[in-house]
Amino acid sequence: MVRRKPLVVVTRKLPDSVETRMRELFDAQLNLDDVPMDQAALVEAVRTADVLVPTLTDRIDSAVLSQAGENLRLIASFSNGVDHIDVASALNRGITVTNTPGVLTEDTADMTMALILAVPRRLAEGAQAVISDKDEWLGWSPTWMLGRRIWGKRLGIIGMGRIGQAVARRAKAFGLQIHYHNRRRLPTAVEEMLDATYWDSLDQMLARMDIVSVNCPHTPATYHLLSARRLKLLKPEAYVVNTARGEVIDENALTRQLEAGELAGAGLDVFEHEPAVNPKLIRLAKQGKVVLLPHLGSATLEGRVDMGEKVIVNIKTFMDGHRPPDRVLPAML
Ligand code: DGY
Repeated sequence: MVRRKPLVVVTRKLPDSVETRMRELFDAQLNLDDVPMDQAALVEAVRTADVLVPTLTDRIDSAVLSQAGENLRLIASFSNGVDHIDVASALNRGITVTNTPGVLTEDTADMTMALILAVPRRLAEGAQAVISDKDEWLGWSPTWMLGRRIWGKRLGIIGMGRIGQAVARRAKAFGLQIHYHNRRRLPTAVEEMLDATYWDSLDQMLARMDIVSVNCPHTPATYHLLSARRLKLLKPEAYVVNTARGEVIDENALTRQLEAGELAGAGLDVFEHEPAVNPKLIRLAKQGKVVLLPHLGSATLEGRVDMGEKVIVNIKTFMDGHRPPDRVLPAML
């Protein structure tokens, strides 16, 4: 008897090489036009698929999962974060969930470092001035467009997992002093290598930092971790950078503080209600107070191909009857 290939429904367009390999291995239903699926289409997908390959723009909540057909045994997300999936509900239904950790660490850390540099050194404003029609740049001047020095400043990293540590390695090379808050303290050898100071109290750390970088996942425990109260603990000269998830910061409170001049600036690659961006943040970007990017942290061709390969390995391993390497376990949530 010929074993039928698993029906793998992919919700978004993936790099060509990944799609080609998926076609070779699976009965892959691809989304070549990259039209995001609405809830009805997602329901249809979970009803029919053996494996669903969603990404962070798909909301796989308990209502969608309640419509899952008997064949759906694996959700192999094309993402590191899994906050778009009701993982507990999936696991309760016996559906395995996997993600793509590790392969976007360096790219995301690069983008974090880019924002750490861009905001205090006014990169976006400067680039705009050069191409502006309004003769904004009239030549070098001793006092024009001065930013703030990075070297020697204190960087507080919230979330010292793979990405947080990769940010710390880069930041150390730029002369920043590394501080961090994490659920668990790092082994002494890692702390020593990074010259990193641990704070078990996030409040205590925030009050002392020049730059704060959010690098933790969004989970129920980290929703609005940077709340209005905590943001008020930051020094008025401090900068906030977020390449993790918008939901970790109370975006309205952050915006209010930036507008009031109670913070020096922010570099945001992610937003609380993506892809919607608070118009007040856009106004602040036009004033040069914030740099806004469209969730580009992992956006390299290499990174996206690596993510696709991880998805394929997870599906293949699962279909061969083994535990996929990147299972999302309840303890991670
Ligand atoms: C992820 O995969 O969770 C990242 O946010 C994509 O950039």
